[in-house]
Amino acid sequence: FTAAAVALSLSVSAGAVQAACDDGEIVIKFSHVTNTDKHPKGIAASLLEQRVNDEMDGKVCMEVFPNSTLYNDNQVLEAMLQGDVQMAAPSLSKFEQFTKQFRIFDLPFMFTNIDAVDQFQTSETGQAMKESMTRRGLLGLAFWHNGMKQMSANVPLLQPTDANGLKFRVQNSDVLKAQMAALGGSPQPMAFSEVYGALQTGVVDGQENTWSNIYGKKFFEVQDGVTETNHGIIDYLVVTSTDFWDSLDDDTRTQLATIIEEVSTSRNAESTRVNAEAKQAIIDAGGVVRELTADQRQAWVDTMKPVWEEFKGDVGQENIDAAQTINA
Ligand code: LMR
Repeated sequence: FTAAAVALSLSVSAGAVQAACDDGEIVIKFSHVTNTDKHPKGIAASLLEQRVNDEMDGKVCMEVFPNSTLYNDNQVLEAMLQGDVQMAAPSLSKFEQFTKQFRIFDLPFMFTNIDAVDQFQTSETGQAMKESMTRRGLLGLAFWHNGMKQMSANVPLLQPTDANGLKFRVQNSDVLKAQMAALGGSPQPMAFSEVYGALQTGVVDGQENTWSNIYGKKFFEVQDGVTETNHGIIDYLVVTSTDFWDSLDDDTRTQLATIIEEVSTSRNAESTRVNAEAKQAIIDAGGVVRELTADQRQAWVDTMKPVWEEFKGDVGQENIDAAQTINA
C-alpha cells in the first residue's frame, strides 16, 4: 500500500472507531464497494452491522465501510490477510487468485435465476466451497445474492454482433475476459470504483452488471442503454480471515455465525425484488432498458456459451451437470 492509502484508511477507521466502538470491544471492519440503498449487499451489510451492534454490544463492534471508502475489491483480500480488515463480501469473481472453483458462477448462462444459484450453493458441493480457501487463510461465512447481470454499452446492444470491437469493463476474472472475447469485444479488467469514470470518458464502451449496481453507481447515465440479457450472475461470499475467526472465543463465534446466517437467509430472499426495484428506478430516472426477443436472446446464448468448454476442467463437469439439473 502507498503511505497515503494507509494514512487514509487509518484516519477513516480511527474516526469511526471513536464514534461507534467502546474500549475492549472486538472491532470488525467490514469493507465493501457498493452503495447501501436499493442494493442487496448494501442492505444486508447495514442490517448485519445493526444486529451485531445491538445484540453483541460490549463484546463486538462492527463498522461497515461501503462504496470502496476503505478498500476496493482488488485490495481487500490482501488487507484481510494482513489483519487490516476483518470482513468483506467481494463478488465470487474476485477470488480468482485464491480458487478456481468459483469460476462456475461466472460462466455465462450457467444459472437461469438466483433461486438456482441458491440451490446450488445450498448443496454439499456449494457449502464446501466456503471452505475452499482456508489453506490460503480465507474462510467463507455465507453466500450473499445480488442478481442477474445485464449488458450495457454506448451503442444499442440487441444482437451479440453489436458488441464486436467494443471495450467492456470486466471484473478481474479469466472467465469474464473469455466471455467478452467470445463476443468479439475487448475485456478491460478494472475496479468497480473506476467504472463510472471509465464509461463517462470513453476509456471503455460498455460493461455488465446487475440492476442494483447499474442503478447504484449510475452507469445508465453514461450508457446508451441497458439490455436485459440476464446472461450471468453476481453473487458474493461473506469472507473473513481464518486468523481472525480462530481468535474469537466459542460463544462469540457462535453468536456471530448465527446472526450472519439469519441476515443471509432473510436478505437473500429479497435480492430479486431489490434488483427489480433498482431496474424500475433506472426507468423512472429516464434510463433506457431494452428487452430481447427470444431469437435475439438465443443468439447471445449461442455466442457466449461455448466459453464453458475452456473452463470445464476448472469447475468440473459434475458441477456443471448439477447446476443444469437445478435449472431444469
Ligand atoms: C463489480 O465489480 O462489478 C461488482 O462485483 C461489484 C459488487 O460488489 O457488486
